[in-house]
Amino acid sequence: MTAHQDMLGRLRTHQPGTTLEGKFYTDPEFFRLDMENIWYREWLFAGHDCELGKPGSYFTLQVGDYPVIVLRSGDGAIRAFHNSCRHRGSRLCAAASGSVAKLVCPYHQWTYELDGRLLFARDMGPGFDATQYGLKPVHCESVAGYIWICLAKEAPDFETFRAGAMPYLAPHGLKNAKVAFESTIVEKGNWKLVWENNRECYHCAGNHPELCRTFPEAPTVTGVQGADKDPLIGQHWRRCEEAGLPSTFSISGDGQFRMARMPLLRNAVSYTMSGKPAVQRPLSPTIEEGNIGALLLFHYPTTWNHVLGDHAVSFRVLPIGPRETQVTTKWLVHKDAVEGVDYNLDELTHVWQMTNDQDRQIVEENQLGVSSPVYTPGPYAPEHEGGVMQFVEWYRNAMEAALGNDGVRLRSVA
Ligand code: FES
Ligand SMILES: [Fe+2]
Repeated sequence: MTAHQDMLGRLRTHQPGTTLEGKFYTDPEFFRLDMENIWYREWLFAGHDCELGKPGSYFTLQVGDYPVIVLRSGDGAIRAFHNSCRHRGSRLCAAASGSVAKLVCPYHQWTYELDGRLLFARDMGPGFDATQYGLKPVHCESVAGYIWICLAKEAPDFETFRAGAMPYLAPHGLKNAKVAFESTIVEKGNWKLVWENNRECYHCAGNHPELCRTFPEAPTVTGVQGADKDPLIGQHWRRCEEAGLPSTFSISGDGQFRMARMPLLRNAVSYTMSGKPAVQRPLSPTIEEGNIGALLLFHYPTTWNHVLGDHAVSFRVLPIGPRETQVTTKWLVHKDAVEGVDYNLDELTHVWQMTNDQDRQIVEENQLGVSSPVYTPGPYAPEHEGGVMQFVEWYRNAMEAALGNDGVRLRSVA
């Protein structure tokens, strides 16, 4: 039996409401199938417009086997290319980010324009046609300050996400932000365990003392069910909507992304130990309502986000191997906010730095446990882990559709 048939069989017999079998979290062939059928096909969150301040600004990322460069071209457009020279394939940019006038390959100095055209290749002979050797493009889109890439030849629809997310994100002015701080950690766990952990707050009380000062444990906040029946959330939505901020719970038909604006505990307005703003200068000066809670946005498989009144936190997930995942967190503040005057980094980042590290430990322990030969799928808690079940259903549907060639068979979440 091939890994393809093995995985498809296990997906089709998966018991809804239970965790996946161990192979999904450990097997190198299953990991390869995840990469090929999800990570190399779907739209992925890459970074922020504001990280590419001027033409020539770039950042790089590694998606499985694919090194990618995202940059701002001379015309101001944001573009993405495969970070592989058309001469003998060397990576063009090794740095995580930087600024260049042209893209010059360090190996033999082939030189590319910021729109990918090959400008210069020394001594390639009279028959050499430079127009045939431009950088290979990667699909690239930007929505309200968030940049997305897709490695597939034919990218799936992006407009549904753009239309859904734009009204929620646009008022926050994230194109006018700056990254005040970023951290990249490696969690020794499968990417799906990282997501499963993110999609519930059943673990919060026992693990996140700092986050629990401001972030509600209620499953209606983190999960995908019942927010519209929660009176506190309803009140919050009404207040925010009256202030012109789209806020109600919205999830895509296929379950890939969700937006909702949620109240924090005890009128907290930021993820600080006190609940008070970490940044004195608001992210968007046009938002007058003082207590907008947190706009929560997830988009499988790469990102979850919290956008507050004073700052935003973005999270980017990238798998490294079956048992290893990179998580990059960025704290965004207004571009004119001054460190040491309008905010201090420790206050801004403390809660999520601690929370990330606590989540890393949880995911690593989870990985070690599911890697045991005695591990068998366990039941999700119906009330608290609806969000996790929804993630697993999205994964199962996406993989079955890709592997089975018989269309998506949607099953509702219990
Ligand atoms: S590999 Fe890039 S110039 Fe030779
Ligand atoms: Fe957590």
